[in-house]
Amino acid sequence: MDATPPPMPCIACLNHKGGVGKTTCSVNLAAGLARLGWRILAVDADPQAHLSASLGLAAPDGGGLAGVLDGRISLSAAKLSAGPCTVVPGSAALAATESALATGNPGHDRLRQALAGITGFDLAIIDCPPHLGPLTRQALTAASGVIVPMTPDYLAMQSLAWLMDTLAGLSAEHLAPTVVGIVLNRFSGQKRLHREVQAAVAEHFPGVAFANVIRENISLAEAPSFGQDIFQYAPRSAGASDFAAVCRETAARLGLTPLSGASGNAR
Ligand SMILES: Nc1ncnc2c1ncn2[C@@H]1O[C@H](COP(=O)(O)OP(=O)(O)OP(=O)(O)O)[C@@H](O)[C@H]1O
Ligand SMILES: [Mg+2]
Repeated sequence: MDATPPPMPCIACLNHKGGVGKTTCSVNLAAGLARLGWRILAVDADPQAHLSASLGLAAPDGGGLAGVLDGRISLSAAKLSAGPCTVVPGSAALAATESALATGNPGHDRLRQALAGITGFDLAIIDCPPHLGPLTRQALTAASGVIVPMTPDYLAMQSLAWLMDTLAGLSAEHLAPTVVGIVLNRFSGQKRLHREVQAAVAEHFPGVAFANVIRENISLAEAPSFGQDIFQYAPRSAGASDFAAVCRETAARLGLTPLSGASGNAR
């Protein structure tokens, strides 16, 4: 009998469209699921390093994910603590790493290999940059699933169709992360356009959209400037309530079993 533990599930928060809420979702999914008791490793794969900044972290020179992908340090050496989560921080150095990944012959699986060598976590969540370049390919090669945050507007819907086709096409390259779900962000049920986009997503991708949405909420925009997730910064806000529901739905969609000793208000 094979005693090798199954690989840690790994979710890439991905949408090539910018500003749709990838980082907001990565930060608050990581924090919310950690408060529910899972051991979460959040990986900042964006040279903008917004996930790291949102949690009050910065990669040291030569460290962070760039150091891992450049082969200078191990993932274990790169990780930092941020409240209930552990984070592999990003940095502007990832831009040079990405150029090297694009022009060299590094293989697409450096991040996958680094994650395979780490233990003590139940789930990794990767915040991707807003394009499908080499860093996103590293994430897609490592990921078992993809969560697609999107804003409920016409152009985002257009981009979504292309993204879903692209993700489906990855199976030809033996990269086939499951689409765990689409999360509608900045949603307002009072806006007809938002309801129409929600209906269109449900029609074209049945069952893929999360039942729970994230509303526009100023606390979600403010929290990063304090280096805090939404559960720390504004635990009674609509943003915390929405992310608590999205965390529970994520756990259910991933089939994560609740653990004992959970704390916090993401329940
Ligand atoms: N539900 C929300 N309510 C209010 N503000 C939000 C919400 N979601 C995201 N924001 C804000 O919108 C901006 C863009 O969000 P975010 O950085 O998460 O998007 P992104 O997809 O990661 O962007 P990029 O493509 O640049 O990586 C941020 O300032 C964030 O604080
Ligand atoms: Mg981002």
